[in-house]
Amino acid sequence: MYENRIKRAELIDKIITPEQAASLFKDKMVVASSGFTKSGDSKAVLPALAERAKKDPLKITLMTGASLGYGTDGALASSNALSLRLPFQVDPVLRKAINNGEIMFIDQHLGETANLLRANNFPKIDIAVIEVAMIEEDGRLALTTSVGNSSAFALLANKIIIEVNLCIPEEIIGLHDIFSTGEYPNRSEIPIVAAHTRVGSTHVHVDPNKIAGIVITNKQDSPAEISTPDEATVAMARHLVNFFDQEVKKGNLTRSLLPLQAGIGKVANAVLDGFRAGDFEHLTMYSEVLQDSTFDLLDSGKMDFASGSSITVSEAYYDRIFNNLDKYKDKVILRPQSVSNAAEVIRRLGVITMNTALECDIYGNVNSTHVSGINMMNGIGGSGDFARNAYLSVFVTQSLAKGGKISSIVPMVSHVDHTEHDVDVIVTEQGLADLRGLAPRQRAQMIIDHCVHPDYRMQLQDYFDRALERGGQTPHILEEAFSWHTRLRETGTMKA
Ligand code: COA
Repeated sequence: MYENRIKRAELIDKIITPEQAASLFKDKMVVASSGFTKSGDSKAVLPALAERAKKDPLKITLMTGASLGYGTDGALASSNALSLRLPFQVDPVLRKAINNGEIMFIDQHLGETANLLRANNFPKIDIAVIEVAMIEEDGRLALTTSVGNSSAFALLANKIIIEVNLCIPEEIIGLHDIFSTGEYPNRSEIPIVAAHTRVGSTHVHVDPNKIAGIVITNKQDSPAEISTPDEATVAMARHLVNFFDQEVKKGNLTRSLLPLQAGIGKVANAVLDGFRAGDFEHLTMYSEVLQDSTFDLLDSGKMDFASGSSITVSEAYYDRIFNNLDKYKDKVILRPQSVSNAAEVIRRLGVITMNTALECDIYGNVNSTHVSGINMMNGIGGSGDFARNAYLSVFVTQSLAKGGKISSIVPMVSHVDHTEHDVDVIVTEQGLADLRGLAPRQRAQMIIDHCVHPDYRMQLQDYFDRALERGGQTPHILEEAFSWHTRLRETGTMKA
């Protein structure tokens, strides 16, 4: 079957096994791979490299679009094959190795990796592994379920290993919109004026001479783990839908709102799902990851169009979408992450962004990445690209974590990913704090009144009242500001 997928006949001679491909890597190489939130990742070559590293030790730098599926990050970490990883991950084994200091990790705005590479701020990529659905006669590559950084990697790498994935339907060809601004100082604008604007080409251009090998695979993406909405996520969605209803009634927004972006994780997926219940029409998305809820909104007729960098859906949705790609072809675009997450476009379109916090503080600073300020969870992902440039930047979090031992609203966040200047609205299952137009002292009271769990409300009010006695633009008791985190470490709970 693979002959139909490799239309440039001379390249058929380059077909090799995953093990042969793995033997092309050398110690200290800089390796790039397709893959964005588990979609369109290397399904054979990187796993074979992890196997090889068990017997034949080597360490590489590995960069991707975002996270890899099938535990590949964990397998590479277990084989001690990684020295440096960027720009995002979600793997528990890799996470542990990062937090033990065994593997270095660069947590990076996902919209920036390709730009930094193009500006030579990283060593040159030795080998890029890229999953494709088709190699055309002229050597152009049709990508699969994500674009991520693949077009930049293909351009910048010395050598490319291609994985041709036969199980991706050919109908996916044409879904992608590959665009590059060129280089400084003569970069062009990205002329996207609506979520559906096409500005580039459907394929990635590569020099066929750079192709070092082609591996044939036949494996779906590993499914996203999406939990069904629960009481807390349904409540958060309800608060948000009511808020947007009010914004429409006030005349600030129309019933189509503005293009939506939703972050990763169960909370963001559930919150987006809540839009099905609201009185909205002709919604659009200008986002990064298209999750299950995007396709529910498209199918329900509430949403007209969704632009992203990957399709990352649960098992139940996978067949529904990929067996019906013709139905979605005029409703979905996949773009490079340097475009889906471009500040310029997010600001021009006025994107409404909804991302998830691990913790927020009383002034609205948000920590999305570091548990108790020290241990990496996943990474900032695209949340910073979107939050900073949004028309309206929303952060959602459940008010409690770990069965109530942790309050997600604390006096001072233990790590800052999003400053108070980039956060307009905070939502928990308790309620919604609209922080727009408020000064710090007003913001604090608004957050305490609307977002904090009752178990912690008096404790936080007491902190704020005593901080107020000390004065200041942003009152704090510095020697106490992290006492909730130290109490958690010492006693197992933040409760006083
Ligand atoms: N302290 C310690 N742990 C906390 C916590 C806190 N303040 N808040 C949440 N957690 C834990 C939860 O208990 C849960 O742990 P578990 O996996 O052991 O059950 C875990 O963090 C995930 O939290 P959950 O409430 O299930 O939310 P989620 O699945 O929506 O994930 C983030 C939340 C913040 C981890 C996730 O959204 C993320 O990585 N965001 C950053 C990247 C990003 O926003 N990308 C989007 C751009 S497209």
